[in-house]
Amino acid sequence: MTAPAAAPAPAAPRKPSYNSCNVDSSIVAMTFDDGPHPKLTPRLLDMLKERNIKATFFVIGKNVAEFPDIAKRIVDEGHEIANHSWSHPQLTKLSPSAFAAEIAQTNDAIEKATGVRSVTMRPPYGAINPALTKRLNEEYGLSVILWSVDPLDWKIRKSDHVSGHIIKNAAPGSIILAHDIHASTVDAMPATLDALQSKGYKFVTVSDLIAMDRPAAPKVDSPKATP
Ligand code: NI
Repeated sequence: MTAPAAAPAPAAPRKPSYNSCNVDSSIVAMTFDDGPHPKLTPRLLDMLKERNIKATFFVIGKNVAEFPDIAKRIVDEGHEIANHSWSHPQLTKLSPSAFAAEIAQTNDAIEKATGVRSVTMRPPYGAINPALTKRLNEEYGLSVILWSVDPLDWKIRKSDHVSGHIIKNAAPGSIILAHDIHASTVDAMPATLDALQSKGYKFVTVSDLIAMDRPAAPKVDSPKATP
């Protein structure tokens, strides 16, 4: 065996949860929650396909059970499909057995529709705690994915606002939150995606972004920075 000429920078160890990733180039992950929606998700998939952009869809289990063909299309077109619970409750308010049902039923519905087992999970409302994160990591093999860019598209149903917020705030390693159940959000995507692409951004799935995550550089004030 010979040593490689230049060893690649080591990947950071997998973390229990992520708001964003530390990457060295202009790469972001677009994420779309709460679908699949019978009309809007296919329309969004067409927009992504036209631009050769890969995204991540955090789907609700009962919607997958209702629209399995759309879930399958998400996977067939190279996107990541991932768990967003069965019925969108605040997970932190559930009994342990109700929590388990929300997660397991959704994993099973996704696998039945697409053949894919989820490896990431987004808690509804971002409501999570360390104990539930540990259960998701250890019992279900799910990394918890939050976000670093939030256009509040569920509240402000204006495409100009959604695209403006995302374009202004996206940065290398951003995880961008949006919802493919609102027409205003889907309508915002052509301008959003085109603007980010023209700024040199590339789009990857959340799992691909995590795989590129690098340990953060030590802060100047940190004791670790002292030899
Ligand atoms: Ni949601």
